[in-house]
Amino acid sequence: MLFPHLLLFFLALFTTRVSPEYTRPNPRPLIFRQHNRSDSDPQQVHISLAGKDHMRISWITLDKKVQSKVEYGKSPGKYDATATGESINYHYFFYSSGEIHHVKIGPLEPSTSYYYRCGGHGPEFSFRTPPSAFPVEFAVAGDLGQTEWTESTLAHIGAKDYDVFLLPGDLSYADTQQPLWDSFGRLVQPYASTRPWMVTEGNHEIETFPIIYPHGFKAYNARWLMPYQESRSTSNLYYSSDVVGTHIIMLGSYTDFDSDSDQYKWLQADLASIDRTRTPWVFVLIHAPWYNSNLAHRGEGESMRKAMEQMLYDARVDVVFAGHVHAYERFTRVYDNKADQCGPVHVTIGDGGNREGLAMSFDNPSPSISLYREPSFGHGRLRVINSTHAHWTWHRNKETNSLHVGDEIWLESLASLALCKKTNSSTRSPKDEL
Ligand SMILES: [Fe+2]
Repeated sequence: MLFPHLLLFFLALFTTRVSPEYTRPNPRPLIFRQHNRSDSDPQQVHISLAGKDHMRISWITLDKKVQSKVEYGKSPGKYDATATGESINYHYFFYSSGEIHHVKIGPLEPSTSYYYRCGGHGPEFSFRTPPSAFPVEFAVAGDLGQTEWTESTLAHIGAKDYDVFLLPGDLSYADTQQPLWDSFGRLVQPYASTRPWMVTEGNHEIETFPIIYPHGFKAYNARWLMPYQESRSTSNLYYSSDVVGTHIIMLGSYTDFDSDSDQYKWLQADLASIDRTRTPWVFVLIHAPWYNSNLAHRGEGESMRKAMEQMLYDARVDVVFAGHVHAYERFTRVYDNKADQCGPVHVTIGDGGNREGLAMSFDNPSPSISLYREPSFGHGRLRVINSTHAHWTWHRNKETNSLHVGDEIWLESLASLALCKKTNSSTRSPKDEL
């Protein structure tokens, strides 16, 4: 049938945003994961933090009559607690999703393994809750997709323990082909069912279509429900959560961010509510980078940077992680395009391994604020040791030893630096005061 192919072609035209200067390498074939169990068995199981001491369990069943119920406990096969939630489904042109279940469980104890079963059917899963005190370790990778490169990234991430996975946008690269959302869910299940996956949206999540789906994010919002209500946000496209002594803010590069927008006002209130004695570290994730010396996606984060950078600077955000550019790049502490000891470190970590390949070309010479850059697939690890020190490392997939460090930096919390204590004239750069 010609019509569906033509339709997909036009859908791709409307949903792909790529800089005209950048020539992509040839695509890599996708890995498509099938569901080989019964219709009532859970598939695409993933978990996410859902407010203090709670976790959200999400999964899909083809059988629409399966209850949104999670049985769980601290020993395998012994479930002394049950929680119920709700399920939804959606349609996208000719595609109808399975029943998407979301169930919040808790209160849960820290650093504890829980065993759980979804909907009363199928296999047992388990996860471990984050600790109650430092150290805490995050794995970070954006632009994952579902290729052999993705598998390699996931294997490297899984080779060493961590507490929470952070994904700065571009998950499945379904790009309107909805069965690829299902395949992606199956591919990541072994990882996303055992540790919380906290994600924000990228351009590949938009999936708008004029008149019919003008608002976009239909699949993303239905499948990857994040704790936006728990963080007083009105949109799943931006939210925050606390993990041990860290406050993590997920921003939306593809929803309104100007000073009169809901996201802007929410961010203002969220930053104002941070107590640095309780969460001395603040990390922000966005999709389109604000700082980027790669030739791919040049300038795409600029209007958001202009709208929001000062807010993050005044709040002494420690690190901003971005995706979108399929390479690794680390900047020095920066504010308004200049090195600044009280600005965030900016890191582009869009090297998860999607089908579009690597972004190979960087500005030459390198701008002085860019300290390390390399077009290789990989992932990052942020180990927060205590309230003042954290260690960031970057690991290439092409190293056989997943622990091999490609880049690293020790970070000092800005809240612990006297030089960066906030003042009323916080728009002035401390660098100017030296
Ligand atoms: Fe992207």
